[in-house]
Amino acid sequence: MDLLQVDKLHKRFGGLQAVSDVSFGVRSGQIKAVIGPNGAGKTTLFNLISGALPSSSGRVLFKGQEIQGKKPHQVAQLGIARTYQNIKMFSGMTALENVMVGRHLQSRSGFVSSMFNLPGTRGEERLIREKSMELLGLLEIADVAHVSATSLAFGQQRAVEFARALAMEPEILLLDEPAAGLNMYETAEVGRLISRIRDLGITVLLVEHDMSLVMDISDEIVVLSFGQKIAENLPAAIQQDPEVIKIYLGEE
Ligand SMILES: Nc1ncnc2c1ncn2[C@@H]1O[C@H](COP(=O)(O)OP(=O)(O)OP(=O)(O)O)[C@@H](O)[C@H]1O
Ligand SMILES: [Mg+2]
Repeated sequence: MDLLQVDKLHKRFGGLQAVSDVSFGVRSGQIKAVIGPNGAGKTTLFNLISGALPSSSGRVLFKGQEIQGKKPHQVAQLGIARTYQNIKMFSGMTALENVMVGRHLQSRSGFVSSMFNLPGTRGEERLIREKSMELLGLLEIADVAHVSATSLAFGQQRAVEFARALAMEPEILLLDEPAAGLNMYETAEVGRLISRIRDLGITVLLVEHDMSLVMDISDEIVVLSFGQKIAENLPAAIQQDPEVIKIYLGEE
């Protein structure tokens, strides 16, 4: 059984069919990429999976359970975390604090009560701090833990975002254009981090325009164009697919 399954998903915005009859599965432990030209429906697809938008019709199944119609926090609690096309760092907070926010979203006593140091949250606070530090170490940015997050290089901010998403202890991580705005060195680094996340046993669904990154790290690729799935295959086969080549050449 697939960990995540998208089944005949549709999303209309007025007269525009942004996602049209899209079906595919994501197996546990794989890195699956969704590619396609600007406006193909990739971010909309992520919004449908994560509960940020209601679908017009169709189903999303996580471990066989239908999750369409659930609220974003419910979807997150089930084990689906995401990052955004535009980096969202909390300003006025350090890298470590940005990660701790992700952890608090998952913890029992919650962010608000621990902010006010209510009884019984002190020990949990320490655990969250330790766990968050551990994640920064895993993503090789422990040295900037106490630096203001918004003053970090974009590559490091991406790593903080990954750590914050991982703090929610997801089974699957949805990454929307993690290499956007990064230089080629930072992009290669992000590719390494994504592979490392997968090696931790976390399944990855990746939207990305950087084709060398996609071809390098993906196990399978889905291609969207004008909301429709036009191909799904191994990276090597996608690179040779005449229809895929046509939509990418047509884009230039
Ligand atoms: N909330 C919305 N209301 C109306 N139209 C929308 C909305 N969100 C997206 N769209 C439209 O739906 C289509 C798909 O957009 P989407 O953002 O999913 O594309 P994308 O594949 O992520 O593109 P990009 O590669 O540029 O990020 C576009 O035509 C877009 O203008
Ligand atoms: Mg997008």
